[in-house]
Amino acid sequence: MLVCTPNGITWRQICKSGLENPDSKIGFYAGDAESYEIFWEQLRSTIIQYHQVEFPDHLAWQPDQNFLAPMSTPPLAPVRTTRLRVARNLAGRRFPPAMNGVERQQVYQLVKESLQATPGVLLTLDELTESQKATLAASRMLFDNQDRFMASANILDDWPIGRAIFISADGSSGVWINEEDHLRIISIVPGYNLPKAVEAVTTLLTALESRLAFAWSNRLGWLTSCPSNLGTGLRASVRAECSPAEATKFRQLGLQLRGDQGEHTTALGSVYDISPQQRLGLTEYQIMDQLNEALCSVFAASETL
Ligand code: ARG
Repeated sequence: MLVCTPNGITWRQICKSGLENPDSKIGFYAGDAESYEIFWEQLRSTIIQYHQVEFPDHLAWQPDQNFLAPMSTPPLAPVRTTRLRVARNLAGRRFPPAMNGVERQQVYQLVKESLQATPGVLLTLDELTESQKATLAASRMLFDNQDRFMASANILDDWPIGRAIFISADGSSGVWINEEDHLRIISIVPGYNLPKAVEAVTTLLTALESRLAFAWSNRLGWLTSCPSNLGTGLRASVRAECSPAEATKFRQLGLQLRGDQGEHTTALGSVYDISPQQRLGLTEYQIMDQLNEALCSVFAASETL
């Protein structure tokens, strides 16, 4: 008998991207919340390995009540921008790898309604003018349909139906609708400034949470289509200029370095995107603290040379 989730998600669907892209680091995308229960045994070791978390099955995972707690960050000259992004999916709905066009539209509508009272603009990707695209791209708030891993996972199907970007009135934060997850809440602020980014993200999250319920598991925290984002769904990063020696130190401290142009790009010059890889088994505060500790130790050490 073919095993599948109540929404009809099969194991074949979940590992399709990994099979078609042998260079995948993870290779799996969940089609719904239940994928993590029905196919837990198959996903377990990848999740443990990626997040470096030894978690017993009884682990009851709680989000950090202190997400809003002020974290002071010292000025660090090499840091150009600070970025936080939080992934969420709506409870009870299929995730982007398994949605049809109608479902993508429905998610868009629900998110649109929940942001009605939040100052800002909501732009659908099919209506973007070239100049709007250029502005969004320059501020790194644009997403596209070029990722081959996501294409294989059917996340980019029905493009651009239901895809939209909300930009807050002050431009410091935004929401991606129907990218890899139903929602990506993002804040990008100049320089090194985690408190400002936290404030911007939590403002949007609070607005969304007051109207929408998100997919959640006691074992895995916030559920995301890619297992790399389970737990907090939080990616905390900076774009910073660093020397090859500093880049090596960041890697030794367990941080992930990406090229300046986003995921799967290599650094062209000396500007890197630096972030802790783990999102599960840690609180939001601990993730930001990990980033902060690493930045302070590497850049402060360079200053005293
Ligand atoms: N599926 C890709 C892989 O396994 C991407 C993994 C992490 N990135 C992401 N955007 N979810 O290599």
